[in-house]
Amino acid sequence: MSSQRHLTGITTSGTPHLGNYVGAIRPAITASRQPGASSFYFLADYHALIKCDEPERIQRSTLEIAATWLALGLDHEKVYFYRQSDIPEIPELTWLLTCVTAKGLLNRAHAYKAATDANRASDEDIDAGINAGLYMYPVLMAADILMFNAARVPVGRDQIQHIEMARDIGQRFNHIYGEHFVLPEAVIEENVATLPGLDGRKMSKSYNNTIPLWLPQKELKKAILGIVTNSQTPGEPKDPDESHVFTLYQAFASAEETASMRAAFAEGIGWGDAKQKLFERIDSELSAARARYETLMAQPDEIENILLAGAAKAREIATPLMTKLRAAVGLRRLIKAQPIVVKLAAEATAGATTTAELTVARKLARFISYREKSDHKFYYKVAAADGTLLLQSVPFATPQESGRAIIVLKSIPADALITQSSGADWQVHSSDGKLLGTSVDPERLRSELETLRLSEA
Ligand code: TRP
Repeated sequence: MSSQRHLTGITTSGTPHLGNYVGAIRPAITASRQPGASSFYFLADYHALIKCDEPERIQRSTLEIAATWLALGLDHEKVYFYRQSDIPEIPELTWLLTCVTAKGLLNRAHAYKAATDANRASDEDIDAGINAGLYMYPVLMAADILMFNAARVPVGRDQIQHIEMARDIGQRFNHIYGEHFVLPEAVIEENVATLPGLDGRKMSKSYNNTIPLWLPQKELKKAILGIVTNSQTPGEPKDPDESHVFTLYQAFASAEETASMRAAFAEGIGWGDAKQKLFERIDSELSAARARYETLMAQPDEIENILLAGAAKAREIATPLMTKLRAAVGLRRLIKAQPIVVKLAAEATAGATTTAELTVARKLARFISYREKSDHKFYYKVAAADGTLLLQSVPFATPQESGRAIIVLKSIPADALITQSSGADWQVHSSDGKLLGTSVDPERLRSELETLRLSEA
């Protein structure tokens, strides 16, 4: 199941442009809609800090990129959509991985090598102006990927080496500490176009030749009219395969539209007319999404909630894995709770007609299942070792359902539980909003559940 997981990160240091859309966002959203797909898309804001020290820009870019994915129809309930910095397990895992990563491996990373080569060429100290974040970039990226046991990572060619490094690092960890990680593979979409920018080179922020994705109609048209062309006049036959206008058109058009544009080139369509057609094609693909984008940009609180819910969902995977990894490397409690089997007989509270034989740990909270006489329904309680009632479940029709609810509650990271005051009690919900039961002391419930989970990990 996890072998089907796709994961990719988007660095939050810029404004999305047409090249990002065609090369990454559009194919990713299409892939996420495949039946059986399990997709993880996240905003790599820790990575953004490596190359950007402008706080406002990081925040703005995070908002723009999140709004972009949502406006283009990403189903945030179906996929895992989150902000990297909302997952504290990521930097934690980064450190564990750092300690099994060969320094020599990082010396060979393309981005770091390019920077040191440039320094060498200009007779500077080889590490002049290079921050340690750039050097550690591949380890942070390995943590992003390995944390969710993603098997497939769709990226651009420039990222292939990073995925290979994530494999190396994961393999090294597995070798030392046992099989914890799936080893990822890069997925390069062969049939996705690399868009030319305004000057004909690859559209890229670093060339300053991009067309921003969400330009208002008028400005989009102006930008498209500014694409460089040769000086052939209207009426002169033109070679579509030599034209950036045609390449751009093809990335948005159907096969039929592309064929008729090819014919128009042969017949000598003027550059102005070709650009007008290109503008119309792009505008019609984007205009509905542009309206959604503008609405979303005006509601950052809605986006914030979506990201926080996404992080809670992602942490349902990250927290238990991190607990295991900490134990695996030896970051452990000094006293391990001894599991013992006890019979919960008279202990089970009044009203119970059946008692369950449960494995509980000394001093730990325990789950007590019972059937209530008055309504014949099945319930469970969570009780602290001193008998304090911590959680009273909702009723269940069958003991199996109650048992399943216990398993779910045991697997949720305690701080992902949502609690809501209701009179003297608190209602306890799972992160997806399902009511689990009531508690008089949610803080103690959380801490006892977390202790229980750690001892069982
Ligand atoms: N380095 C990637 C880029 O610049 C972004 C990224 C961060 C990423 N973490 C990732 C991509 C994990 C894939 C998987 O494009």
